[in-house]
Amino acid sequence: MRMRRKKWARPELAVCPFYIEHAEEYKGKWNTVFGNDKPIYAELGCGKGGFVVQAAQYYPDVNWLAMDIKSEMLAVARRTITADFEAKGLEINNIKLVSQNIEKITTAFDENDKIDRIHINFCNPWPRKRHKKRRLTHTRQLMQYRTFLRDGGEIHFKTDDDELFEESLPYFEHSGFSIKFITRDLHNSDYAPNFETEHEKMFSAEGKKIKLLVAVKEQLPEGYVPPKEKDELPLEHNEQGEDQCQ
Ligand SMILES: C[S@@+](CC[C@H](N)C(=O)[O-])C[C@H]1O[C@@H](n2cnc3c(N)ncnc32)[C@H](O)[C@@H]1O
Repeated sequence: MRMRRKKWARPELAVCPFYIEHAEEYKGKWNTVFGNDKPIYAELGCGKGGFVVQAAQYYPDVNWLAMDIKSEMLAVARRTITADFEAKGLEINNIKLVSQNIEKITTAFDENDKIDRIHINFCNPWPRKRHKKRRLTHTRQLMQYRTFLRDGGEIHFKTDDDELFEESLPYFEHSGFSIKFITRDLHNSDYAPNFETEHEKMFSAEGKKIKLLVAVKEQLPEGYVPPKEKDELPLEHNEQGEDQCQ
């Protein structure tokens, strides 16, 4: 099911002081956005903001970039964040909501952007063979993230989807990441702190086990080219595939 169009989304985002519409304007200088030198963590596909609102309060000394492709999602996230921070009497000074297609993330980030950590929460599983390369954990994506993720930086990836999780393991290996932590039952593991997302609550209520891994960026030899994944079939002309987000 797709999220309904919200007439108020764009007008509210337009006046939101922590919303960034043109991410490419900050390419190579994301450290200037918050006006301090604190580490920057990015959430890719933030949806309705349930994760970042908790994470940003738990880690006030981290700057958070919460990105999504859909303005409707970002607008809901804006409301979630504003309401929660206001209710607690907190100032929103360590979150930016960023409009960005993650498949083209290197239009907005480069090697001068030393991002410390990336969170990918419940990205679309894209189960059909010809769509797999659109997964936000695909080798093609991970190699892009390497350009702006600090050496030794981490990717925290969680999903309910068994196939996406298992097939992502070689993607991480082929992209020069080592696995520091892995669990196929997050809610019965010692990973902490865990901030439940909207999709995580929904899937765990259905009895699905949540999977999580923490991958660390390792060095790769100069000129390294990852092997082609078996699923790297070209998308058919103008093919969009199905977006499974609500
Ligand atoms: C299944 S939802 C998960 C939302 C949230 N992370 C959660 O766990 O509840 C996937 C989110 O990723 C966003 N998304 C999908 N493809 C994207 C892309 N290429 N670039 C940016 N965001 C994307 C969708 O708009 C949606 O908000």
